[in-house]
Amino acid sequence: MSTKILIIGACGQIGTELTQKLRAVYGTDNVIASDIRKLDNDVVNDGIFEVVNALDYNQIENLIEKYHITDVYLMAALLSATAEKNPAFAWDLNMNSLFHVLNLAKAGKIKKIFWPSSIAVFGPTTPRENTPQYTVMEPSTVYGISKQSGERWCEYYNKQYGVDVRSIRYPGLISWTSPPGGGTTDYAVDIYYKALEDKKFTCFLSENTALPMMYMDDAIKATVSIMQAPAEKIKVRSSYNLSAISFTPKEIAASIQKHIPEFTIDYAPDFRQKIADSWPASIDDTVAREDWGWKNDFDMEKMTSVMLENLSKK
Ligand code: SER
Repeated sequence: MSTKILIIGACGQIGTELTQKLRAVYGTDNVIASDIRKLDNDVVNDGIFEVVNALDYNQIENLIEKYHITDVYLMAALLSATAEKNPAFAWDLNMNSLFHVLNLAKAGKIKKIFWPSSIAVFGPTTPRENTPQYTVMEPSTVYGISKQSGERWCEYYNKQYGVDVRSIRYPGLISWTSPPGGGTTDYAVDIYYKALEDKKFTCFLSENTALPMMYMDDAIKATVSIMQAPAEKIKVRSSYNLSAISFTPKEIAASIQKHIPEFTIDYAPDFRQKIADSWPASIDDTVAREDWGWKNDFDMEKMTSVMLENLSKK
């Protein structure tokens, strides 16, 4: 049977680039993009697009039947900072959208699921440097609790019902095509915009806050690759650690100053500092590298060059 894909949350930060990539790999007619609202962008205009509420089981089921969907990528979620402001809705959206998709797979209506987890599954009691695949996990944010719970349910549905669900713990993701929304790592996107526009940036994290990060192309590559791997290679059915770069605000500022010498940064930590302090500084992703051949292409310097080049054209 040929692969027919439904992306839920296709207009978000990851969804936008994932949709373009999946259309290129599987053919435009085999990828159905969906989101809660219809925007005027490439995701909507360059292929099939449907409005869907990720909390509505029947809407998702109808789309799956209408297009004979085999694979679902569930990218709709509230991120860490937004979730702290609206815990009940974050829990509802992040968990129940996942249950809908898991239950559709359990009922045999789809074959494969991609569901993103996050470094937010870790907490203050987790070893901070080179955080291992298997370790203490006591997340202290609503977002982290929802992702940790989601991971447990993914593994449960795989072991109990044979659901083929695959997941990655994304680090902070950096891209120039679509803006992020509501994450603690998002300063590392905003800093590039401000460096070009204002030559200065006020960071909501303190200068030495190291966090795991990744350029979007690497994240998309990992997503396509874990979904294409033979099922027996995906031995971890909760979620895989995934790592590329780790840097502090001070370090990313220095990499920008190599291109824009007059750029300056200052620091005004807010409530997001506490979230960042509860997360790892760097991640050990040996298991993903061994199981399904993950490898990153971008380091910080390469990412800074590409970000500044593309944003200045934009
Ligand atoms: N980038 C996300 C956030 O900061 C982490 O998964 O919320």
